[in-house]
Amino acid sequence: DGDTFKYYADGQWKRSTSGNSMTVINPTSRSTYYKLSVCTKEEMDHMFDAAREAQRAWARVPLWRRAEALHKAAALLKQNKDVIAECLVKEVAKPAKDSVTEVVRSADFIDYTAEEGIRILSEGKCLVPDSFPGNERNKLCLSSRIPLGVVLAIPPFNYPVNLSVSKIAPALIAGNAVVVKPPMQGSVAALHMIQCFHLAGFPKGLISAITIKVADLGDALTTHPAINCISFTGGDSGIAIAKRAGMVPLQMELGGKDACIVLDDADLDLAAANIIKGGFSFSGQRCTAVKIVLAMDTIANKLVEKVNVKVARLSVGPPEVDSDITPVVSESSADFIEGLVMDARQKGAKLWQEYRREGNLIWPILIDNVRPDMRITWEEPFGPIIPVIRIRTIEEGVQHCNSSRYGLQGCVFTNNIHRALIVSDAMETGTVQINSAPARGPDHFPFQGLRDSGIGSQGITNSIHMMTKVKSTVINLP
Ligand code: G3P
Repeated sequence: DGDTFKYYADGQWKRSTSGNSMTVINPTSRSTYYKLSVCTKEEMDHMFDAAREAQRAWARVPLWRRAEALHKAAALLKQNKDVIAECLVKEVAKPAKDSVTEVVRSADFIDYTAEEGIRILSEGKCLVPDSFPGNERNKLCLSSRIPLGVVLAIPPFNYPVNLSVSKIAPALIAGNAVVVKPPMQGSVAALHMIQCFHLAGFPKGLISAITIKVADLGDALTTHPAINCISFTGGDSGIAIAKRAGMVPLQMELGGKDACIVLDDADLDLAAANIIKGGFSFSGQRCTAVKIVLAMDTIANKLVEKVNVKVARLSVGPPEVDSDITPVVSESSADFIEGLVMDARQKGAKLWQEYRREGNLIWPILIDNVRPDMRITWEEPFGPIIPVIRIRTIEEGVQHCNSSRYGLQGCVFTNNIHRALIVSDAMETGTVQINSAPARGPDHFPFQGLRDSGIGSQGITNSIHMMTKVKSTVINLP
């Protein structure tokens, strides 16, 4: 069928022999927008064979040439930003301007990774032995970093382009091959991004993009014996992948329940602005979104009032016209969010805005007087709803934050730097932001979560380290 997008393997766009296709639904119109190939197990196996072969040769390509190819891909991505952004608008309903920003950010990510790779990978170490008891100065240990082999990259729907390149670029600069499994919603944007790598002239087989039905081939993909590393961003399915992975290094980012603690001496205008930005950007569909506000009860009324004024100003509508709040990715996601709102309402929470939903579009809501027995206190909505819990002490806020099964980021608002640092020290999360909403970027900052939020650390430098291994050669002197 001529309308179905092909998959990418052997440096070519291919039609699957399965003859089957699956659909990408536009979250705004809720009708089929694109069709994707359903790849077979044989096509997948072939991809991994080709990746392994291509990787061996790629590891020997000079580092400066690998960097040059990445810079080319970045330039092509920037040139094609509008076409790719258009796919994001239609597939995941990301607001038009933010979609362009995602593509440009991705190109910048690739450029920076190429440069950082040059810096990190050009350095090695030389150790002498006689610092360890019983040794003479009779040998030298030379060590440097080598690639892992084949990296499986699984990005999520909320950044189909950016969270693909944040896995692909570090893998490639380090001399690895990559097999990418794009998210169903966002596949077409990701395939367009892959075309930029294709045009940049990477060797055939080094990069592949597979589109599969996860229910049928997901397990076979993530447990494939040819895989040497998995870099995954997404939901709880990551836990199952980690349990089955075996002796393979993992980089996992599985979501969060980022808390925003607002102390009684905070700049409340600043806190309110960050709660809006942190909670409602991309309609709350970010791992790092503010997912619970813990406000000291002495300032909570004032804070809620300020946030409510700003909620009223948010535009709600389609992504094409840059609405602040756009439809969430799927009907099942909207149903899940609705379930959390209804549960809180039924258990006595106060909804400051009327609950309103049309299709996948949910109007933003601040849910106040939230208590621990409500699902919204602990679950990750991935939608435009923010719960507020009033706290009496700082310790209560920290303890709440640390009781979550997630531990991605958190933030604290206060004008007292000492209190901020004490809270930061006590919060068991991968990052704490002082006086700003949680965020992953700038993309070279370390990005990691504790507990169910993940394994390993991301950010450009950490990803290059993670996708390489130390190799030593010991010269024994006569
Ligand atoms: O997985 C990370 C993503 O959901 C958050 O990224 O850049 O919006 O903070 P960012």
